[in-house]
This record gives sequence, structure tokens and C-alpha cells, in this order.
Amino acid sequence: MPAIVLIGAQWGDEGKGKATDLLGSRVDYVVKFNGGNNAGHTVVIGDEKYALHLLPSGILTPGVTPVIANGVVVDIEVLFHELEALLARGLDVSKLLISANAHVITQYHRTIDKVTERFLGSRQIGTTGRGIGPAYADKINRVGIRIQDIFDENILRQKVEGALDQKNHLLVKIYNRRAIAVNEVVDDLLSYADRLRPMVADTGLILNQALDAGKTVLFEGGQATMLDVDHGTYPFVTSSNATSGGAATGSGVAPNRFDRVIGIVKAYTTRVGAGPFPTELFDQWGEFLRANGFEFGTTTGRPRRCGWYDAPIARYAARINGITDFVLTKLDVLTGLEKIQVCVAYDVDGQRFDEVPVNQTDFHHAVPIYQEFPGWSEDITGVTSFDELPRNARDYVLAVEAMSGSRISAIGVGPGRDAIVVRHDLLG
Ligand code: GDP
Ligand code: IMO
Ligand code: MG
Repeated sequence: MPAIVLIGAQWGDEGKGKATDLLGSRVDYVVKFNGGNNAGHTVVIGDEKYALHLLPSGILTPGVTPVIANGVVVDIEVLFHELEALLARGLDVSKLLISANAHVITQYHRTIDKVTERFLGSRQIGTTGRGIGPAYADKINRVGIRIQDIFDENILRQKVEGALDQKNHLLVKIYNRRAIAVNEVVDDLLSYADRLRPMVADTGLILNQALDAGKTVLFEGGQATMLDVDHGTYPFVTSSNATSGGAATGSGVAPNRFDRVIGIVKAYTTRVGAGPFPTELFDQWGEFLRANGFEFGTTTGRPRRCGWYDAPIARYAARINGITDFVLTKLDVLTGLEKIQVCVAYDVDGQRFDEVPVNQTDFHHAVPIYQEFPGWSEDITGVTSFDELPRNARDYVLAVEAMSGSRISAIGVGPGRDAIVVRHDLLG
């Protein structure tokens, strides 16, 4: 089972970092293939808590080679900041590899991200402000800066000049901001060249060779299906392909090499930022989920919007990604609820939709049709096997599984590394 893709099945923060960490000791490479430091993964190992943004969660496991592949946008300042913080805590970060083809987030991307959001006013996306969208826009527009450009000062200068030519007009004339000097950006990027050089590699080649040699490679998605630029709730999405297809384009490993797709899904739903969210709760139950699940963003600290489990979204994710196994996380957060609702379909202006409507306006108007389940009050955080779960918790999992388009192979019952109930081996 050598190539495994792990992706978010909802709107992010499903616990991908924890799931990656769980598999870490059994894999050789962990590859980040999309997004950048907009991600926020909290991983709890014993008494230690790690918050990762740009680095793949596999960096926490000794022996794993973490890879930042071509599909990622890299803020180099953040990269070194994160590496230094981990080094200071005694971790070995020397194995990290970065694709020469990954794009770079510069100062002007961060600035443009923030000013465009401000100008959107009530239409804003609620981005993380990390420059992600503008960096991907430049990539698609063919005016991006790649990691390899940093090692050729002439090329770098030409490219930064070309990009800033346009952007300074925009910044000064439209957004009333100061112009950014070419030298400022070039000097900043060049200052990292020597430290960056040993990490930079042809990661597509290395990963294919690793698979040829029978190594196990885990592709860890950032963000999630409903934030995918093609398949999510556009325009309230991120700017990359966070679905399993992105693992191929974002790494240079062909689709026919992938053996398994693990979808991470919470036992309820959360979302950060703007956009439609049919099962969102504005009452005490939403507050309950936020407080019990500690639903505050790892990256921006924003309170996450909370709501019930949405089965059509899970089915949609199963279909788009080819999910073979779900990991259902945070089941423990539901403990103490007398009744739990699960969205089984939507009512859109009097018409029933069993699947996620393709038309965004319909999705905005979708009113959940719920099925109610009895809750449980027993503490489940120490449970290690499915049979030990309270009957109502088992019934909830089995009902959700039947609606979600793939089997639930593991269940999260707490934030810790060991707080997981495995029903089917995720790598076997
Ligand atoms: P990611 O972005 O998908 O990696 O997820 P985040 O790290 O942003 O958010 C998930 C949060 O839930 C983290 O704080 C995890 O420590 C925590 N977590 C993960 N799995 C579980 C679980 O099964 N139960 C509980 N209570 N917390 C969990
Ligand atoms: P992880 O990997 C949750 C959201 C932002 C915003 C939209 C666009 O931790 O699950 P961007 O800065 O990417 O242009 O913002 O996407 N967003 C996330 N929400 N989890 C994430 O990552 C996210 N990354 C981006 O809140 O709505
Ligand atoms: Mg997160």
C-alpha cells in the first residue's frame, strides 16, 4: 500500500495533522502538495502540542522525510521560522526537501491579499491574509517566482521587476498603498539562498524513485474538499486543489500510483471564513460544539463556525476524492448532548436535494433536512475499541457511515496521539 492520499472532507480543520501523525511511524515520506501557511495543524504528542502551518505534519516523526512539493506556495520567512521553532524543541528537521518548482509567497502577495479583502467589504472571503490567493494567481498568470529562481539573481530580478511593474500600479493607484521596491524583494529572497539550497530538490523524481523502491509515501492535503478551488463553494474557497487529484499535479506522482485515499471528517462540521454552510448553528448547540471542540483557528485564532454533520457533503467528498476510508474525528466532542442531528438531504425552496446542489445559489438557500439521534453521556476519551463505545455512539457512527459513501475506518476520541479507535487498518 505504498502511496496514500489523506485529505479533508469538509471545510478544513478536521484533524488531518493528527491523522498524519498517527500514520507517521509507518511511512517513509510525508508530502505536502497544496496550499501554504494558510493551513494550521495542531498535533498533540504526550504533553507536547505542536502547531504547524507550512511544514507537513510528518516532520514530527523521526525517520520520516518531509517534502514540500511543487504544488505548495512557500513563504520562506515562515518556513525558517517554523523550522527554528521545531529545532529549539529538539526535533530533527534536517531531512526536509523542497521542490525547486514550488512557488514563493513574497511581501507583495501578503499585501495584496490584505488590501483586496479590505476592498471586497461585505463580499470578502475571510482569507487567512497569508498571500495564498495572490501567489497562486501569479502562478496561473505565469508571473510567479519559483524556489529555483532564488539561485539565479539575474532571473530573479527580472521576474520580480516584471511582477512589480504591474502590482505597483495596482497598489499605488487603486489601493492607495506605497510602491514596493524591486531591491527590497530581491534582497530579501536572496538572503535565504544559502540556507535554502541544501533542501531544494527534484522532489517529483525522488518520490517516484521512492515508490519504485517500495517505500510508503503519504500525501497530506491542506485545507479541504469544500475549500477546493474547483470543487468547493467557489468563490468562498482557497486557491489550490485540496482534493485528491491535487496530490498528483501537486507532486509529480501520477494518479495510477495512488492506492488509497483517506478522508478526514469531523463528527460535526466547522468552517472558518465566509461562505455557505447549511448546517451552521447559531444557538446554544453551536456554542456547545465550539466550546467542547475548542473550535478556534490554529492559524488566525478566529472562532470557527460550527454545525451538525452534513452527510451529503461527506458523500460528495467521497465521490470527488475517491475516498476509500474515512477517519471520523472528534466523536468525543458530542458527548453530553441529549440529541444529535445529522443532515441527510436539503430542502431548496421546496425541492428536495439528496446530493450537494451544483448551483451555488441553491446551496446558499439549502435548508438541512435532519435525522435525529439519541446522544450519550459516558466519557469516551479512553476508549480503545469500537465495542467499548456506548451503544448510542456506535449507532451514531454506523448511521453516519451508511450515509457517507465509504467505510469509517478510525474514530477520534480525543486530541492525543493515542486517542483513536481503529476499525480497519488505514495502511493495510
Ligand atoms: P487540521 O487542520 O485538519 O490538521 O486540523 P486542526 O489541527 O486545525 O484542528 C483539529 C483540532 O482538533 C486540533 O486541535 C486537534 O488536536 C484536535 N483533534 C483532532 N482529533 C481529535 C479528536 O478525535 N478529539 C478531540 N477532542 N480533538 C481532536
Ligand atoms: P487546514 O489545512 C480551514 C479558508 C480561509 C478562507 C478561505 C480562503 O488547517 O484545514 P486563503 O487564505 O486560503 O486564501 O483563505 O479558506 N482556509 C481554511 N479554513 N482550514 C484551513 O486549513 C484553511 N485554509 C484556508 O479561512 O475562508
Ligand atoms: Mg487546521
